[in-house]
Amino acid sequence: MPTHDLVVVANRLPVDAKTLPDGATEWVTSPGGLVTAMESVMRGVDSGAWVGWAGSPGEAPEPFEADGMHLYPVALDGTDIEKYYEGFSNATLWPLYHDVIVDPVYHRTWWDTYVSANRRFAHEAAAVTAPGGTIWVHDYQLQLVPEMIRSERPDVRIGFFNHIPFPPVELFSQLPKRNQVLRGLLGADLVGFQRESDSLNFLNAVRQLLGSHIDQRTVTVPGIGAVEPREVTAQTFPISIDTEAVAELTDDQDIHERAAQLRRELGSPKKIVLGVDRLDYTKGIRHRLKAWGELLNDGVIDPRETVLVQVATPSRERVDAYRQLRDEVELTVGRINGDHAPIGRPAISYLHRSFDRKDMTALYMAADVVLVTALRDGMNLVAKEYVVSRPDVQGVLVLSEFAGAADELRAALLVNPHDIDELKSATLRALTMPAEEQHEAMTSLRRQVLDHDVQSWARAFLEELQNAGSPAAPVE
Ligand code: G6P
Repeated sequence: MPTHDLVVVANRLPVDAKTLPDGATEWVTSPGGLVTAMESVMRGVDSGAWVGWAGSPGEAPEPFEADGMHLYPVALDGTDIEKYYEGFSNATLWPLYHDVIVDPVYHRTWWDTYVSANRRFAHEAAAVTAPGGTIWVHDYQLQLVPEMIRSERPDVRIGFFNHIPFPPVELFSQLPKRNQVLRGLLGADLVGFQRESDSLNFLNAVRQLLGSHIDQRTVTVPGIGAVEPREVTAQTFPISIDTEAVAELTDDQDIHERAAQLRRELGSPKKIVLGVDRLDYTKGIRHRLKAWGELLNDGVIDPRETVLVQVATPSRERVDAYRQLRDEVELTVGRINGDHAPIGRPAISYLHRSFDRKDMTALYMAADVVLVTALRDGMNLVAKEYVVSRPDVQGVLVLSEFAGAADELRAALLVNPHDIDELKSATLRALTMPAEEQHEAMTSLRRQVLDHDVQSWARAFLEELQNAGSPAAPVE
């Protein structure tokens, strides 16, 4: 019997099942901004559920509870992973939605698996939602799910939030099956995006490709036969982080000590510059390394005094573009270290692994400068995490204007990461910024994020969802 009033559906559960050498299962936090944000939202919800994949192929574990959340694993087999996850989601949609930084790849056999995997998520969500409940579907992997849920459960309210950019119609039009994707999304009552430009891109695509009637932000979906016409709203909701959880960590004396220890472990440099990213071509890691290498070559940065720490969390390692990126990044880091590192210390401390929240906070506290150089990014929560991790109101954020966060964090040093000279001068400016100027910018950045945390983001979305669209069908 369905019992949950609010059900989140995302490709991943908030935890990934990892099989240990002795065959036991260990649950670890899943990567990415979606989980970072939604995990804390769902922890505060009574009777909330999360439907998603547990991160490994094969049979799904039984539903279970973690941190007060009810988790419903969805099974993906080897074909689903290859064609739905690595294929259509991460080799077709991901690059297309991120300004074709690498060429999207499409194979016709991927589409059918995208449809069947979406159907499995939709069916599971429909099965566990209470009568008249709410289903909140997340991200580009599940764009067909809203329409699929609606055909099974017309009594529920359906929201969709896209965590990544929505491309301009000129790019979106390249997508095979583009109209099916739009119709899938229009199964929702409310479709949410990170930036205003994403919402407008979506509305434009619906207008131009489906010819739908649109009044401001509301699309009318025509009825068919006995089915009444419906209304769907598109709105902008910039996502954020759990600022209270970060504040708890920055209050923890152990984490202050860990930050000081990290500085010592890095050889007590005068300045620490930090990059934190999933190892993804959208993050502009190559551009950052190019700028860093040139600053060392030019002799304007002394590697005995300044170190770059680059955390590169492993991601989508079986997708070609990610393999190539890893090779290129590691070759470049090796070269730069070979050319410039003092004996016994790296010029770039490169860490190809993930860190827990405590270690991340300690790193942010130790970093004099954080570089966010994304070539395209839905939001970028690293930028927000950094400023909230600095209650001392010091530190400098260099932020790409192509990250969604740049719409809100205007007091950062905004850069065009494609312009390597600009990236170099912004990095130097950050490294030499007087404490007073740092304080002024950081005060404004912190206020922005502290006043707009992830809880208020979720509240705004869910409130709008109750008002958006047309009335749901009565509960039978
Ligand atoms: C981004 C996407 C998420 C995704 C995450 C990690 O944040 O918006 O949907 O889960 O990256 O990527 P992965 O492919 O490992 O789930």
